[in-house]
Amino acid sequence: MALTRSRKTTPARTRGRAAKLARERRTTPQPKPPIVALRDATVVYPGGHVALERVSLEIERGEFAFVVGPTGCGKSTLIKMLIREIQPASGKVLIAGRDINELPASKVPLLRRRIGTIFQDFKLLPNRTVYDNVAYALQVIGASRAEIRRKTPEIIRLVGLQSKIHNYPDQLSGGEQQRVSIARAFVNHPPLLLADEPTGNLDPETSIGIMQLLYRINRTGTTVLVVTHDREMVDKMRRRVIALEDGRLIRDERAGGYHDESTREFAARVRHELGVPGDQPE
Ligand SMILES: Nc1ncnc2c1ncn2[C@@H]1O[C@H](COP(=O)(O)OP(=O)(O)O)[C@@H](O)[C@H]1O
Ligand SMILES: [Mg+2]
Repeated sequence: MALTRSRKTTPARTRGRAAKLARERRTTPQPKPPIVALRDATVVYPGGHVALERVSLEIERGEFAFVVGPTGCGKSTLIKMLIREIQPASGKVLIAGRDINELPASKVPLLRRRIGTIFQDFKLLPNRTVYDNVAYALQVIGASRAEIRRKTPEIIRLVGLQSKIHNYPDQLSGGEQQRVSIARAFVNHPPLLLADEPTGNLDPETSIGIMQLLYRINRTGTTVLVVTHDREMVDKMRRRVIALEDGRLIRDERAGGYHDESTREFAARVRHELGVPGDQPE
């Protein structure tokens, strides 16, 4: 009834314009919200320690960014907040425009499926082979057996471990174990990959290989956020650097240059600039 009356009293010209606007809205792509947006996010641990204080930042789709800062400054807290392992006392955490702290608990596993995570200590299943560690990540999300058989070897090849596919974690070097955990995090091609000190336990040469792999993943379109202590590596990579100190964001620099390098050029340059010997990047 109300609708009929409003149509009758709205001049045809206005109706035409409204329809045109609606048509345009349908046909022109709307800008996508940033993959990560923090708005004044504050985290307080039980006991009262303020681990993050009014942190605001945005990370665009496809970016490669580092988070740096001394031990205890809140880097891991930031990562945990992005997967809702920790909820802020105040402020907002938006992933792809959605406030993740307003999601019902039942939707949190779905959120975590869309975010790959990598840790310093690899977190592999010790009694499973490389193949099974990766396949497991697909199993838990209910992938079909055909899908698992197709995707698992594909991603293991991508991380350069095809010759170790039947090895157990204790039969792998640290760098190889980290490659398995990257394969597992990336097998669903999440739009966002978070790495908390992924090279913390690795030597410089192996670290370059891991950074190269993360860079290759980034070049497929996945946004990559890497927490690290390795100041030198960060300087050489010339990517955005977000610096925390005592839970506060103290610096956010978007470094220029080198954005169109291939992964091979990247590895060769970083290896050269860090003075690490080595022949061909894998
Ligand atoms: N579960 C917790 N309970 C209380 N305090 C914590 C907890 N986790 C971390 N903290 C404290 O919060 C601060 C930030 O920790 P964290 O985010 O792990 O730092 P980083 O990863 O930068 O080393 C530290 O001072 C740490 O001791
Ligand atoms: Mg940490």
